[in-house]
Amino acid sequence: MTGPMTEKLADIANAMVAAGKGVLAADESSGTIKKRFDSIGVTSTDDSRRDYREMLFRAGEGMKNYVSGVILYDETIRQKAKDGTPLVDVIKASGAIPGIKVDEGAKPLAGPTAAIEKVTEGLDGLRERLAEYYKLGARFAKWRAVITIADGTPTWNCIKANAHALARYAALCQEAGIVPIVEPEVLMDGAHAGHDIERCYEVTEWTQRTVFRELYDARVALEGMILKPNMVIAGQKCAKQGTPEQVAELTVKCLKATVPAAVPGIAFLSGGQSDEQATQNLSLMNEIGGVPWKLTFSYGRALQAAALKAWGGKTENVAAGQRAFTHRARMNSLAALGKWNLQLEKAA
Ligand code: 13P
Repeated sequence: MTGPMTEKLADIANAMVAAGKGVLAADESSGTIKKRFDSIGVTSTDDSRRDYREMLFRAGEGMKNYVSGVILYDETIRQKAKDGTPLVDVIKASGAIPGIKVDEGAKPLAGPTAAIEKVTEGLDGLRERLAEYYKLGARFAKWRAVITIADGTPTWNCIKANAHALARYAALCQEAGIVPIVEPEVLMDGAHAGHDIERCYEVTEWTQRTVFRELYDARVALEGMILKPNMVIAGQKCAKQGTPEQVAELTVKCLKATVPAAVPGIAFLSGGQSDEQATQNLSLMNEIGGVPWKLTFSYGRALQAAALKAWGGKTENVAAGQRAFTHRARMNSLAALGKWNLQLEKAA
């Protein structure tokens, strides 16, 4: 697919994965942000959510040097900073591109595996919602599908349904002039003991192949999208964990086998990895190199956890929260260049 629209989309996608930059995922739904706030004993209100996110978006150097784009939730894209500036303008002033989560969550997939497997909803009315988000300033969007490794899952039905929805979403985004982040996440936080790194490889390969087949059928321009995958990694409860070198090697191998070179960039989710683990694994992948796409981050938890803790809901801790955020952003920027190491991590 070529033409002026595709070129515009490709420009945005390339900017999202500019060298040494990555995406801040700050699109927690109201339920998820409440859980994060519960962990630091802060009540989740319109104002506390605004204060917290404003702190991140105003993290000067941390935003300007290391963050290419910010994924927002519906509430946040409409919200104003304390001084009345729309948060979208605060983000743009830092040089980052505003983006928006447009899926409406993962719901039980009807059928024999409904207790385990989910399908992401949100296609109805999406064309109209995208037009509104474009007006509000969004130039990219996100849709997350989840694939669960358990006894007898994932099923083909689940992978196919999620891949199909991702492709329909991506085509609608491109029609609206918005770059789709296509996020098929093979979850790592399952309790399944047989969820070792090899099983994750198989399922990730199957998922990515299916997603790119569906994207082709929907005529999605690969030049104008970003892939947001999981790393190939053992489940958190699996006794047999891979080394960081294995995670990096198998992730690169799996993506090379499944992701066309026309895709400008791959921005990983952190998925429950520790801050340092997410950074180290990304850096090791970039050290391997020899891949046709940029490899960077689109982290939620692994970019925010330290900042959230340092802030603790207190105005007097805003500077400390911003320092913590800037440090993580810088570490992940180094990782996106394959230049992170433990000494740099500890030097701060
Ligand atoms: P995590 O990095 O916390 O997995 O979140 C990224 C994200 O946007 C998930 O959809």
